[in-house]
Parts: sequence; C-alpha cells; structure tokens
Amino acid sequence: MKKVVFDFDLHNASVDFGEIKQIYERLKPKIKKVKDVLGTGYETDCASINLPFDKNIVSEVNQLIAEKRKFDPAFLIVIGIGGSNLGTIAIHKAINGILYNDKNPALKVYFVDSVDTDYVNGILELVERKLKSGKNILVNVVTKSGTTTETVANFEIFLGLLKKYKKEKYNDYIVAITDKGSKLWDFAKENDISSLAVPKKVGGRYSVFSAVGLFPLGFIGLDIEGLQEGAKDSVDNCTSEDVSINYAALSASIVYYHYTRSINIHDTFIFSKSVYSFGQWYRQLVGESLGKKYNKKGEVVNVGITPTVSLGTTDLHSVAQLYLGGPYDKFTTFVTVKPKKDVYVPKIDAFEQFVENIQSKSVSFIMNSIIGGVREAYKKDKRPFVVVDIPEISAYSMGQLLQWKMLEVMYLGYLLGVNPFDQPQVELYKKETREILAHE
Ligand code: PA5
Repeated sequence: MKKVVFDFDLHNASVDFGEIKQIYERLKPKIKKVKDVLGTGYETDCASINLPFDKNIVSEVNQLIAEKRKFDPAFLIVIGIGGSNLGTIAIHKAINGILYNDKNPALKVYFVDSVDTDYVNGILELVERKLKSGKNILVNVVTKSGTTTETVANFEIFLGLLKKYKKEKYNDYIVAITDKGSKLWDFAKENDISSLAVPKKVGGRYSVFSAVGLFPLGFIGLDIEGLQEGAKDSVDNCTSEDVSINYAALSASIVYYHYTRSINIHDTFIFSKSVYSFGQWYRQLVGESLGKKYNKKGEVVNVGITPTVSLGTTDLHSVAQLYLGGPYDKFTTFVTVKPKKDVYVPKIDAFEQFVENIQSKSVSFIMNSIIGGVREAYKKDKRPFVVVDIPEISAYSMGQLLQWKMLEVMYLGYLLGVNPFDQPQVELYKKETREILAHE
C-alpha cells in the first residue's frame, strides 16, 4: 500500500457495512478492468489513469516551460473552460492560496473561461497596460476539441492584442494545448505556435495530469513531479482489490449506498477558502460524468447525483438551516485542512462579554470548535457524513486527492450503469447556441 496523506473518517457515514461490502463485490470486475488499462497507453476510456506515470508528458512540459520562461512574462493568461481549467484552478488555489496574485508581482495568473464581457474587458485592460509598458505576457489556450465557443472567442481577442503589440513575433507568447489534429492544432502548426497534445482518449474533466494542468501549474512554479507522484500512488491504491486500501471504491460505494435510498445530493463542505475550488472541480466531474439521460444499454434512465459545494464557515450562515432542517436528501463530505500558520485573537477585555472563550485563542482553534459543533449537529440530526482531513496541502496531497476522486467517479459510473466519460446533453445547448449565432 502507498501512503495516504489524508484521514478518511467514516464513523458517521450511516451505512450498513455488510451492504457496502456487497456493493464493493459488484465493483470488483470494474476495478480489474481499470487495472488492466494500466500501462496500455491512451486507447481506452479509462486511459487518464496512465497520465501520472507518463514521464514524457512531464519532460515535454518542462522543456516548453523553460523555453517560455525566457520571455519573463508578467502575466499568465489561461484561456479554457470546464475540464480545461477547473483542475488547474483547484490545484493552484489550494497550494498557492487565493491571494497569490497579490503576493506575486513577478507572475500573476488569470483564468479566462466564460464570455463575461466585463471580466474579459477587465483582464484585457490589465494585459494591454503591461504590453504597452514593454512587458511580456503568456497566453495559454487550452481546449481539447479546439472548437469551444467561449474559448475560441476569448483566444481570438487575446491573439488580436498580442498581434497589435508583438507584431510578427506574437506567436512566441502563446502555448496551445489541444487534441492532435484539431483545428486549433493545425492553426498552431501553421503559425509556428508552440503546442502540446491532450491524449486522444483523455476527456476534459479527467485531463488535469496531462499538459492541460501540468503546463500552467508548472509554469507558475508548482511541483508537477510531486503532483504526478501523489496521483500515481492514488492509482496504485485505488485499483487494488483490497477494500482497506481502495478508498475510491469505498467512497463510491458509500455515495451509491445513499443514492439508492434517495439521498442523491452530495455536498462537499470545505472549511478552507483555498481548497474551495477543489469542490468546484469535483462538482463538474460528478455532474458531467454521472448526470445521464441514457444508461449504457441506451435506455432512458435520467440518473444523477447532484453535487453541491459549500464553504465553511461562510455557508453556515447561508445554507446550514436547509442542511439541518430541510429534507433528508443529502450526504456530506466535510473537507478540513490544517492551516500553514496560525493567527491569534488578541485579548481585549471589552470583548470578553461579546463572545466568551475566544480571547487569546488561535483562529484555527475557533475554526476547529465550529467544525466540531457542525459535525455534532449533523450527527445528532442523523445527517450522514464522512470527513476528509488533509493535514498538509502540497502538490503530492493534491495529486492524491484529485486522482482518488476521478477513480471514485469512474466506479460510480459503473454502479449507476452510465458512461462517465461522455457528456451528450451538453451538446444540446451548444447546438442551440450555434443556431442562434448563425441567425443573428
Ligand atoms: O470535461 C469535459 O469534457 C468538458 O467540461 C470540457 O472540458 C469543456 O466542455 C471544454 O471543452 P474543450 O476542452 O474541448 O474546450
């Protein structure tokens, strides 16, 4: 067994472990199937599990990072949406913190996903100011298909700006990450733009350990080898037939157990602002992978687990009333994180009367008391939950965490009888959008 960097507490999962064992037995053929994919390249649906073992990707990424760092860019602009940026954001924010840009005048990073005019304009203004003052930027466009409306529109806008200021050298300041043979890939080749390929069978939401996540994360200085190591260890543990090691099969079985009892909302309740984006990444992974109209036999089933993300303690003042008073339709995964450095509440006598027992206490002590209170309230009201406690946020632990969850979702797909790798219904709105764009 490879080391596990978090504590996974199941005491309040409210499950019958006899039944969990039966669900786990049902999963065994799938676990074997996934394991058989190991070392076979990128030809099958579960191929993403081979990414953490792929040294070529890391060396290709590192080479391009070294090349582009020579331009000493002041900004990294990552253009991409959904599976093409959520994993990157989750890891970046968890490790660097949400105040990264304030602390790093040398290299700021901006994520441009939606076609949100005011946001895009805001970043354009910042970028133009830099370019005007003679500084460089790097645009990293990430789109597996190469044809996502928002990403292409945003890329064209930033491309135009680069052409204006960098003239015929504009291509030095772009890195494209896309499928080999996509329209973007061909455009990059024709225009001498550096590009990295996403392995064919690796879908967006499973692609964080390909160049999709590794290039931008490595560029801002994160330990991408550490990430791969953590992910690799999760693959090893979570393709094991031994349930005591295979926490992906275990968590999938617990979520599925509740799902079969109409507890079909899974709330990831995260007590850390930096790690909140991990919840947003997981929400997309679950939503797109498991929310399906058809099962694998082509029958209409309309299944899904509704993933929600809550932020502690903020959302205790927003949705806790619903969670503790509303319908019994939610299963919760609390995520707790050990802070890097503590801060203390000063002792000011006048405040003793406001709230008792917080004077001279550390903020983490107050946080832990609240977490303890929340857990107790959930327990008393028979609201099922598990706790994932992460003692140290690092590239290694984030690698482990994300890979665990990707395998969990593959196993849940199997239990629900759906294909966790496609997203046919997303195409519906894309088609309608194309129609509208064509007739406006
Ligand atoms: O997970 C997925 O497959 C999707 O969320 C895609 O990542 C998203 O739609 C963006 O697609 P693309 O990378 O092709 O631009």
